[in-house]
Formats: sequence, C-alpha cells, structure tokens
Amino acid sequence: MEVFRIQGGHTLDGEVRVNGAKNAALPILAATLLTAETCELRNVPELSDVRFMLEILRHHGARVETPAPGVVRVTAESIHPSTPYELVKKMRASICLLGPLVGRLKIADIAQPGGCVIGTRPIDLHLKGLARLGCAITHKSGYITVDATRARGARVFLGGPNGSTVTGTANLVMAAVLTPGETVIDCAACEPEVVDLCDMLARMGARIENIGGPTLRITGVERLRGVTHTVVSDRIEAGTYAVAAALAGGEVTIRGARADHLGAFLDKFEEAGVDFDLPSHDTLRVRGSLGKLRPVDITTLPHPGFPTDLQAQFSALLTQATGAGMITERIYPNRFMHVPELTRMGAEIAVEGPTAVVKGATPLTGAAVMASDLRASATLILAGLVATGETWVQRIYHLDRGYEQFDLRLRSLGARVERLPESAMPGDLRGE
Ligand code: EPZ
Repeated sequence: MEVFRIQGGHTLDGEVRVNGAKNAALPILAATLLTAETCELRNVPELSDVRFMLEILRHHGARVETPAPGVVRVTAESIHPSTPYELVKKMRASICLLGPLVGRLKIADIAQPGGCVIGTRPIDLHLKGLARLGCAITHKSGYITVDATRARGARVFLGGPNGSTVTGTANLVMAAVLTPGETVIDCAACEPEVVDLCDMLARMGARIENIGGPTLRITGVERLRGVTHTVVSDRIEAGTYAVAAALAGGEVTIRGARADHLGAFLDKFEEAGVDFDLPSHDTLRVRGSLGKLRPVDITTLPHPGFPTDLQAQFSALLTQATGAGMITERIYPNRFMHVPELTRMGAEIAVEGPTAVVKGATPLTGAAVMASDLRASATLILAGLVATGETWVQRIYHLDRGYEQFDLRLRSLGARVERLPESAMPGDLRGE
C-alpha cells in the first residue's frame, strides 16, 4: 500500500486543468454496450475505477482499445449478459451495466452490489424503474436477473427518501432508449454527468426530450449508432482544487471548472468569503483566503443543490473559518468518515446524526491519518496542505479511484506532497 507525505505551509500557485468526470465516464463507458458499432470516447480520466470498467466491458465480450491517453474505443459487437460478483464487489458503479444489458440484450444477470463506507447504497429505485417497464426481476444467491423480453415504455417516479438517484436515472435511461414505447421518468437526476450521458445517447440516435430536467421523456428506437464523444469535465475535481487554493493559495487558475456546473458550490464559496473570480465560463481563479474565511451552513442536495461529493472538502475549509459552520448531509447521512481523522489534526467538529458542526478557526497540525473513501482521502490531503508540520495519509488507493495524478498536480502548484511506500512511514506512526 502507498501513503502520501505532505509538508504543510507551502503556497500553491499556477494553473491546473481538471480531467473528464469519473461519474460521467463510468455510465458512458457502460452505454457503449448499447450498440454493435464502435464508440470513441475522449477526455476519459486515467483512474483505477475507469480501468476497472474497461476490464468489465472486456469481460462482457466488447473489444476495448486505448489508442492514446484519455481515448477509449469500444466495439461491443457480440456481448453476454452476466456480470459476476468478483467484478461487482470491486466497484459498485458496475451496477451501471444493468441498463445497457437490459436495453441491448433484454436480459441481465448481475451480482447485487454491496454497500460502502458512505452508506448502504441500495438499488431499489433502479429495480423499481425496470419493473415499471415490465421487466421480470428475480433475486437468487446474491444475483439479480432481469428479463426484459416483454418490456414496454411506462411512466415511473424515480425519487427516493433522499431525492433523485444518479446511477438509477442513468440505468433507466439506458434501458428505455431501446425499449419499445414511451418512457417518462419523473424525479430524474439532473446532475451534469447524467446530462452528458443523455447527450451522448441522443447523438447515438436515442430519442430523449428535456435532457437536464427532472422529467425525461424517452421514445424507444430499434438500435443505436456508434459515436465519438468527449466526456464532460469533472466539477468535483474542480471544487477540490478550488478548496486547496482557498486554503493554501497564492493564486491558482483551474481550467475546465464550469461555472454552470458549480452554482451551489460557488454560492457557498462566496458566502464564506473566498477570494475568487471567473475569467471565463470554464475557468475559475482562486486566491488564498486564510484569515478572511467566514463560517457558512451547508445542506447537501441533488443537483443543482450543494453536491455531497464536495461536502467533506468544504468541511476542511470551514476548519479555518472564524466561527461555527453547520453541514447537513441529506444524501448520505453518515458521510463523515473524514471527521475523526481531521480531529486528529486538531479540527473541532461535532457530529450529531446527519449534521456536523465545524468550529473555526482551529490551527491544524500534521498527523498520521487514514483515508476511508474517495472524497475523504482528498479532504485529508487538503488539510495537510495547511497543517503545520508533516501529515501522512494512508490507504490512498481510495484517492486513485477518482483523482488522476493528484500528487503530481499538487506538486506542480508548489505543494510538498510525495507518494511513498507505506514502509517509508516512521515506525512509531506505523504502529510498530
Ligand atoms: C452517484 O452515486 C455518484 N457515483 C456518487 O459519487 C455521488 O455521491 C452520488 O451519485 C450522489 O450524487 C457515481 O456516479 C458513480 P444515488 P449513486 O443513487 O448513483 C439513495 C463519488 O465520490 N438511493 O444518486 O450510487 C442513496 O442511498 C461517488 O464520486 C436509494 O435509496 O447515488 C442515496 O441516499 C460517491 N435507492 C441517494 O439515493 C436507490 O435505488 C442518492 O444516491 C438508489 C439510491
């Protein structure tokens, strides 16, 4: 296993370009199974989750080529419907295969994904949507079989107790585009990543109305064409670098940070007193704002609300605001695994159910901390940038799932971050 060693207190200056969005690339890669023709995807991020999705597509029988960095070519001429547990358990986003298999083959046989540290991650809404289309769904020994031979378009309300479902919407759209009749999805997810998927499907010949809205209207077609598609930039990665700059800037320019995808985040950034501006519609410039940060209250919501995937990063920022800020998690109520680790660095954060109260400004000191999930790992690194002394972040394989070359790019901005083998950690920190 590898660790990050971070020397805090170094200023970030310069420019960074965000990559293609992981949460767009994963369903979009799955969507290539919807056609026998070749799909060429560009701006695909080089992430462990993406590499794993390519492995799953090959498992299903697709030909997958990576002719150049960020370019993936998939030809799914003849594929089979089974996705085994040993693949699904490694990445729960493999559930995105369900929709395309149902759409293309009218049959899917996929292992039920487990939960993860941020929540139980149910798929009841995915299955509710497919059942409304008339699919026969059976569960046996941890596998779900979906038979869509008699599926027809239908109207379905896809909202759950926490609002819309991102991959649930993606799955139902990918099934419906090749299902005869008209499907109407109420309470569809409006995340930019779902919009990017729908845009690509439309260019493959799918008939989808009101893309980006909460009610999608889909008319099934016989087949879809191949396509060349550039994956949308990653708003979560952009927000992560923006928090890094607010904490440790100098001045950092973030290319590919689309203001129209970051409305709620930038609204809270401004309320918190961060010094930033938008030189263009997809460029965000952030200047270090320590000493000027005000506490804000945040509630995470489905898009266009404040994104749950930026909640942990924002809590690191709030540790440096003068006063108490309150974070309420409405999507994953226990997504506070980063809190005990930030506390080890000196943060004062009280968690009560779905709410965390972050007291600032508290000086952070370096420590050995443990990453628990993708966004928590990024958060601990952000805290390390502004902490006094040395921070060791362990289990950074979580980070590599969603951030491409995070250490190299932070270093290019002036941070003192090194990726080292775990054995490089001082013995007393390693618990020897
Ligand atoms: C997607 O997960 C993202 N992952 C997550 O990003 C993101 O946090 C999440 O959307 C919310 O924005 C990918 O796109 C690969 P949901 P997803 O279905 O689709 C409940 C990251 O860090 N729900 O929108 O699995 C669910 O429990 C990852 O990049 C049901 O109740 O999330 C949650 O409370 C983490 N039943 C809420 O809805 C269902 O059938 C939103 O979940 C499905 C979901």
